[in-house]
Amino acid sequence: MARVLVAVAGGAAALKAPHLLRLLRARGHEVRVLATPRALEFITPLSLAVAAGGEVATEEAWFRPDGRALHIELARWAEAVLVAPATADAMAKAALGLADDLLSATLLAGAKRVAWAPAMNEAMWLSPQTQAHAERLKALGHALFGPAYGPLAAAGEGEGWGRMLEPEELVERLEALLAPKDLKGLRLLVSAGPTREYLDPVRFLSNPSSGRMGYAVAEAARDRGAEVVLVSGPTALPDPWGMEVVQVESALEMRQAILDRYPWAEAVVMAAAVADYRPAETLKEKEPKVEAERLLRLVPNPDILKELGERKEGRILVGFAMETGEGLERAREKLRRKNLDLIALNWVNREGVGFGSLENQVVLLLRDGRVLELPRMRKREVAERILDLVKELRG
Ligand code: CTP
Repeated sequence: MARVLVAVAGGAAALKAPHLLRLLRARGHEVRVLATPRALEFITPLSLAVAAGGEVATEEAWFRPDGRALHIELARWAEAVLVAPATADAMAKAALGLADDLLSATLLAGAKRVAWAPAMNEAMWLSPQTQAHAERLKALGHALFGPAYGPLAAAGEGEGWGRMLEPEELVERLEALLAPKDLKGLRLLVSAGPTREYLDPVRFLSNPSSGRMGYAVAEAARDRGAEVVLVSGPTALPDPWGMEVVQVESALEMRQAILDRYPWAEAVVMAAAVADYRPAETLKEKEPKVEAERLLRLVPNPDILKELGERKEGRILVGFAMETGEGLERAREKLRRKNLDLIALNWVNREGVGFGSLENQVVLLLRDGRVLELPRMRKREVAERILDLVKELRG
């Protein structure tokens, strides 16, 4: 949780500022809001004050009757400043060190972490001036969140580069920026999602894995400073930013993608629900149905994690075990057989957890015999706990 100053500059995306403020508060952050005179042409001070749960820092309030200066106070108070939307003008001023308004003066007065969420016309964003200012800000240690490609606000603009990232993503990026970098430099390979084993071009065997658990591990590791490669089976989740994402379909493709990157990796978390079998043959053409019983011949897929365990060479290996029964003994046996350091046991048939849900309940079994029973929690929290152990094992 952090003290976050949201600085709203003049652009149509200022309308999204109240949502951003609410999201930040819902995540437990303390917020204050600053708005430039232009921003207040797009959004009323009252909307911002209500969303922030406190008064808006405006140009008129800059110098108080008692002699205090708001830019100094805000710069000291904030642990992070998020300029959203950020205009080309605000970026230019900060890059040059100008300080003739409340926003630029606050940034110059020593604001600790500064992040920019640019929102502007594409030509303005791509102009050599704005690009140079963006580079300068990065060199000063500021973060740039976006902009994204998409529909732009001004009339007749169509689509282009310059759209502000959505408030949800801004919060995610800000939290990533503020997270302790205790896994800095860790080269982590993560697998996630189901695999598809095709019978013909339109039919496959698969399972209901949503990929959420593996994506949560990959994202949490990224936020903690790890270099991450995510090998993912087909899921409905968007590619996470800040990592290489390799999309695969079958277990054989997943195996190849993982083995290719194994020499690079220091640690592997296998959260994918790899199909244990595939059809003995995959037909090139779609087969018309026949009104008769059919037998499907299946052959076993390679056990990817077991292969990794056989050529471990000092790497940290984490597996998952999905059980329906009690499962502790079976998970312990998998940990030994696959030569793992850690296995996360979870259950397929318990309500509100496992496949497809946002939460999970796991028991973590370590190679050294420790057994950690975690309560039901968000998959992201489970991911953090697993990574705490990876960190410990890394030494
Ligand atoms: N796994 C794998 N390759 C496979 C099957 C599973 O790498 N072909 C990995 C999974 O990603 C998971 C772990 O192995 O991390 C455990 O998978 P699970 O299917 O529970 O174990 P199995 O050994 O296949 O045992 P069983 O299906 O008999 O429970």
